[in-house]
Amino acid sequence: MNFRFALAALTSAILAVTSTASAQQPIVIKFSHVVAVDTPKGKAADYFKKLAEERSKGRVKVEVYPNSQLFKDGEEMEAVQLGSVQMLAPSLAKFGPLGVREFEVFDLPYMFDDYAELHKVTAGPVGAGLFKKLESKGIVGLAYWDNGFKVMSANKPIRMPADYKGLKMRIQSSKVLGDEMKALGSIPQVMAFSEVYQALQTGVVDGTENPPSNFYTQKMQEVQKYLALTNHGYLGYAVIVNKKFWDGLPADIRTTLEGAMKDATKFANDIAQKENDDALEAVRKTGKTEILTLTAEQKSAMKKALVVVHKENESRVGKDTLAEVYKETGFKP
Ligand code: LMR
Repeated sequence: MNFRFALAALTSAILAVTSTASAQQPIVIKFSHVVAVDTPKGKAADYFKKLAEERSKGRVKVEVYPNSQLFKDGEEMEAVQLGSVQMLAPSLAKFGPLGVREFEVFDLPYMFDDYAELHKVTAGPVGAGLFKKLESKGIVGLAYWDNGFKVMSANKPIRMPADYKGLKMRIQSSKVLGDEMKALGSIPQVMAFSEVYQALQTGVVDGTENPPSNFYTQKMQEVQKYLALTNHGYLGYAVIVNKKFWDGLPADIRTTLEGAMKDATKFANDIAQKENDDALEAVRKTGKTEILTLTAEQKSAMKKALVVVHKENESRVGKDTLAEVYKETGFKP
């Protein structure tokens, strides 16, 4: 355990003791995330804080730590398991290292045509089944929050699969995403979100993928000349909480927090599309990144190159999970 983990765990333990010692002390929820405040996830986390604090009449205090301030990718899962933070909202692409690889089904290219198809899956047996798998890891899944559909970026025009050949592309820690980049002939590089801007700036990587809201708020337009509107995959989040902490809450508080989470989820999913549309427009206005709209022919070449990733990852995401998601979305491999 490194020093930061030890210190955070100690602080949480002291807070827990003092909160039982004095009825006046609020229950503190540290909610850590890696994106900017001005994003669908950043705004929804702040909205959850507002609702939780108001509705619990101050018995709960939610401390939101955005922008990898407290923990970054590669640290935050361990931090929530140890109780150094209570709540996180990692992207669905980041659960493989925790040992729940089935979450990577959401990373499969072109699986979802729109948010409605996605919601059928998260609100159905697959969504519930994935949360069930988290329990043995000491984690409770509370909600799925949308971000949006990903675009690709690089410093050269990327319209056809051949344009990606040899490019070093930053990805999240998902094997499915690694296979996606390999299918395009590029070289995937797993990297924490907090390091992407600098890696693009210094040429450690050549390009990346993310929804426009993350692209714009990380100022990637300063270091990427082209953005292709590929919409080749979905990016969203699971809001998770330390199980011991959650189960140990007074029942009335837990009910209040469940209500606040339900409303924050609606808020997150209601704003996601517009946040991404606005971010894309903001990128366009900077004039720094050229936005490439793909022709029908280019789109279909990209799709043809990328759908092979489904079959390659059938055993990774689970044959049954995959079949269930195909049934909900109508995707034909
Ligand atoms: C990433 O590229 O790491 C993003 O998914 C970060 C996030 O949480 O949206």
